[in-house]
Amino acid sequence: MSLPVSLYSDNGDNFIVIGHRGASAYYPENTLGAFKAAYDMGAEMIELDILLSKDGIPVAIHDETLDRTTNGTGKVVDYTFEELAKLDAGSWFGKKHSSERILSLEEVLQFAKGKIALNIEIKTEAVADELKNGIEEKAYELVKKFDMLDHVLFSSFDYRAVAHLKELDVNIAAALLYEKEQSDGMGPKQLVNAYKVDAFNCNYRLFTKKWADETSEADIPVFVYTVNSERRMKKMIKKGVNGIFTDKPDLLKQVVDNMWKSKGD
Ligand code: G3P
Repeated sequence: MSLPVSLYSDNGDNFIVIGHRGASAYYPENTLGAFKAAYDMGAEMIELDILLSKDGIPVAIHDETLDRTTNGTGKVVDYTFEELAKLDAGSWFGKKHSSERILSLEEVLQFAKGKIALNIEIKTEAVADELKNGIEEKAYELVKKFDMLDHVLFSSFDYRAVAHLKELDVNIAAALLYEKEQSDGMGPKQLVNAYKVDAFNCNYRLFTKKWADETSEADIPVFVYTVNSERRMKKMIKKGVNGIFTDKPDLLKQVVDNMWKSKGD
């Protein structure tokens, strides 16, 4: 089994420490502060969510609306990037983070290039039936411009987005984010084959022994979210997952390093 993306600092353990929305237990999610901290803590990949602004710029934010994570209100798509960039995306988390801003995907790529791999999650709310000029194409063109295609895993709960990405470029590394309603009763192996994707991402609670056996036999890389306790991290690693999304990349790094060390003893 090989990982679907190249890491900038591969220690050969075939496992990826992924900062979920950055180091989001300690910094406001999807901000430069959270991304920098994840990198400093030894994460090998940063997961971020993207939506489109009113003027069609991919921006890093999780919710369809601004209300939870900024001092703005209403839908992200109703504001231009210039307007979004003026909002405070940190104070909700703590006063000292008031200088955090909503970043464009371009700004995230500027930060990550040469440093850290990315998992770009395309949010369902921004996906359209049409491939032309959609969020997938815009994100793909930006990643290509930064020459980071080898270091980016795209994913989405919206299977249309994943199909669009593969249509754009069959070599794009893409993962399905398991979503029961779109899966027609199919399990990981059937889904990965049907959508010709490179990895299977799912909630750790859904990753049963049956799925662990199925993915391991079929050599399918698996990434589970969101695991923040040491006990669960160890359990998931023992089940054979190839990466974990965590809000605490420092903790996961420590767990992985210790397990790796004790294997060598
Ligand atoms: O991409 C993994 C994980 O982030 C999916 O869940 O809700 O955080 O987007 P959510």
